[in-house]
Amino acid sequence: MTLFDVYPLWPIEPVKAYGCRIIDKEGIEYIDLYGGHAVISIGHCHPTYCEMLTEQLNKIGFYSNAVQNSLQNELAQKLGELSGYEDYSLFLCNSGAEANENAIKLASFHTGKAKILALRKAFHGRTSGAVAATDNPTIQAPFNRTDNVTFIPMNDLAAAEAEITKGEYAAILIEGIQGVAGIFEPEANYLKGIKDLCNKYKVVMIFDEVQSGYGRSGRFFAHQYSGVRGDIITVAKGMGNGFPIGGVIISPLFKATHGMLGTTFGGNHLACTAALAVLKVIRDESLIENAATMGNYIISCLKGNKAIKEIRGKGLMVGVELKEGYETLRNRLLFEKKIFTGGAGKNVIRLLPPLNIDKQTIGIFAEAFNQLTETN
Ligand SMILES: Cc1ncc(COP(=O)(O)O)c(C=O)c1O
Repeated sequence: MTLFDVYPLWPIEPVKAYGCRIIDKEGIEYIDLYGGHAVISIGHCHPTYCEMLTEQLNKIGFYSNAVQNSLQNELAQKLGELSGYEDYSLFLCNSGAEANENAIKLASFHTGKAKILALRKAFHGRTSGAVAATDNPTIQAPFNRTDNVTFIPMNDLAAAEAEITKGEYAAILIEGIQGVAGIFEPEANYLKGIKDLCNKYKVVMIFDEVQSGYGRSGRFFAHQYSGVRGDIITVAKGMGNGFPIGGVIISPLFKATHGMLGTTFGGNHLACTAALAVLKVIRDESLIENAATMGNYIISCLKGNKAIKEIRGKGLMVGVELKEGYETLRNRLLFEKKIFTGGAGKNVIRLLPPLNIDKQTIGIFAEAFNQLTETN
């Protein structure tokens, strides 16, 4: 059997990693400013993480959701404390797309309505409901195309109002910061306006914090910069530092009934332990504060570079939009300077490093970036 060839692959195979570094099978060391697509939150192979997971694996790795698992309760309590959503409840699943599927389903159950609003350029995942709410027809199969999703432009409150007032919608789905689109933020006043409309017309406000959550933006959730509280918040990526886990954080307004949602693997012992280790390290090492400081430092190091059209983002979710002519820069950073970065389209470099990155590592990146753009 061979692999179903859906990913364009770099000719690099990481075999070891620590902190903000990756080592490939040739022994070459790379700086990781990509975090495996915003997944590595507390750094690769963090000792606390490895220790807690090893210890748990030697006790019990998995049992089904038909029995008690106090790790789930501990996770819900600690996530509530750190995120500021103490009065909400948690449903555990396995990925970002699955978290969004469950959020949409909950909103639909709750309101009895089938339609949702999503934003232009949004990315919410690849499963049927999530991809239907993703503004990219090239990844939607005919099966996924539905009249149940209406796309509206971000930061256009009048466009949102024109739809919400129709009274047809169960929910509006908004990324804390749009990631795949190239790092675009919803404005605080826009979110406040949407929240008021949602309250008035009984529409569920769902924040997709799969990429922008878990401290990445310099707050626990990016939407918290606006002061607006979501009715449902979805999380994944940084939640398990690489161990697959997702979550749906649900307002007390929603009533749970047995069988309403479910999963085989979600909330298993190892996944919960990974998520508990992440929260412990985020708290003990003040990683949310570090994300805010280091994000500002990255921006200050790159400011004034002639190749840059615009730098966007918050904390360690930074989009560097390049002027025309610098399309090869991302590959040059990787192959000439041994620095992994993310991308969005042809001309945005997306920086999503582990939240414990330091100034020295950023300095190495900034020097490489400046050197390559000067000799472009
Ligand atoms: C904002 C957002 N939502 C959802 C997803 C889907 O997450 P997953 O790949 O874990 O299903 C992603 C993945 O990139 C994302 O960026």
